[in-house]
Amino acid sequence: MDLHQGEHQKRPLFSGRLSIIAVAAGSAIGLGNIWKFPYITGKNGGAAFIIVYLCCIALIGLPVLISDFIIGRRGGGSIVTSFRALAGKRSPWLFGGFIALFGSATVLSFYGVVAGWSLEYIVKAASNSFAGKSPAQVGEMFGSFIVSPVEPIVCQLIFMTITAGVVYAGVKKGIEAFSKVMMPILLGIIVLLCIRSLTLPGAEGGIAFLFKPDFSKLSAGGVLDALGHAFFTLSLGVGTMITYGSYINPKENLAATAVQICIADTVIALLAGIAIFPAVFAFGVEPGQGPGLVFVTLPNVFAQMPGGYIFCLLFFLLLAVAALTSSISMLEVSVAYVSEDLGISRKRATLLLTALISAVGVVCSLSMGEYQEQLTFFGKNFFDLADFAVSNVEMPIGGAISVLFVGWVLKRRRVQDELTCKGSLTVPLIGAFMFAAKYLAPIGIAIVFLHSLGLF
Ligand code: TRP
Repeated sequence: MDLHQGEHQKRPLFSGRLSIIAVAAGSAIGLGNIWKFPYITGKNGGAAFIIVYLCCIALIGLPVLISDFIIGRRGGGSIVTSFRALAGKRSPWLFGGFIALFGSATVLSFYGVVAGWSLEYIVKAASNSFAGKSPAQVGEMFGSFIVSPVEPIVCQLIFMTITAGVVYAGVKKGIEAFSKVMMPILLGIIVLLCIRSLTLPGAEGGIAFLFKPDFSKLSAGGVLDALGHAFFTLSLGVGTMITYGSYINPKENLAATAVQICIADTVIALLAGIAIFPAVFAFGVEPGQGPGLVFVTLPNVFAQMPGGYIFCLLFFLLLAVAALTSSISMLEVSVAYVSEDLGISRKRATLLLTALISAVGVVCSLSMGEYQEQLTFFGKNFFDLADFAVSNVEMPIGGAISVLFVGWVLKRRRVQDELTCKGSLTVPLIGAFMFAAKYLAPIGIAIVFLHSLGLF
């Protein structure tokens, strides 16, 4: 069974290596890099945590990413079709496809809410709303905004509409074209922010925090945070990279592409750290603020900084751009499935799925405010529950299914063919990759999974 795209069905292919990197790094680089990575780094004490995180990316994230690409390109279809093509019609591995569909839709429902906040903060920054406010007032502004019943939902729906517009336009004219414009903008903004942050008096404290490891600050929880985040930041376990893999040209070097995506994602996360922590230290603010770091701590820092108005605006633009190139990748998973497997047109599928996912997102947003009581289940509000169900349950299962499938089920010769483009490339370390796919990654994932369920 040799189902490359084209043989299986006519599919669009990304134009070349740069396009693949723009699109896949666009998916990988998102709120995870700019919002979550800095705050979990802050919470876990800085440099030592970063070292562990880098190991998790290299030893576990990368093999899962390569496995996703192999399944997608070899399977040559949507998430479910790809598993079906490789494993057979009634194979239990199809389960991997269906839970990834559920995961990608659920992750987008709450991701759209947080991304919507970034749109509101662009407006707040543009209208100079943080000027002259005390830190407590900026905190109160954030707290009352996210629980209000209307504004965050309007922002979320605007964000979802833009996401849908890009996906509606198609894989090449929408997703590829959009990512190729947005990723250089993202890089430009983040570099500007880094320069500003590093030239503040007192910036050294932030640099030491990021790059001078103090292992005494690292806890077992920190290691698990690092591993869980490696998954989230590379968009693994929910079919995103499988779907994108199916649009990769059969002549492309998958392993090298995956390595470059990991590097791009890591570099941007570190640059986000460099844009944030030197400034945070320069103004003597506590770095371990948690999720409020970018929405509360940063506006305060910007308000005190020379040129803060423009840098604040740039920062929230950056956040929105990063979120958009990620959200389109989440929507594409189910759009590809519904349009290819259920025979609904791509445009119609986009509209239907956006409506459905946005509706769940509205429930997520409401569950943080007025309706918290009605929308709390198992002791978590619906937003946290959706986050928990995907990040802690679905993603590890989905990721484990990918690596186990490539490590144990696909014939080694096929994997080798896929990595070497049928022998036309020499790819080093295939043995190491197989070892990681068979043992290292599944064991690592199992540990995080059991821990997040409180069983370990
Ligand atoms: N990786 C993105 C980030 O860091 C988020 C993302 C995009 C994602 N696609 C995903 C997360 C799929 C989980 C699953 O923000």
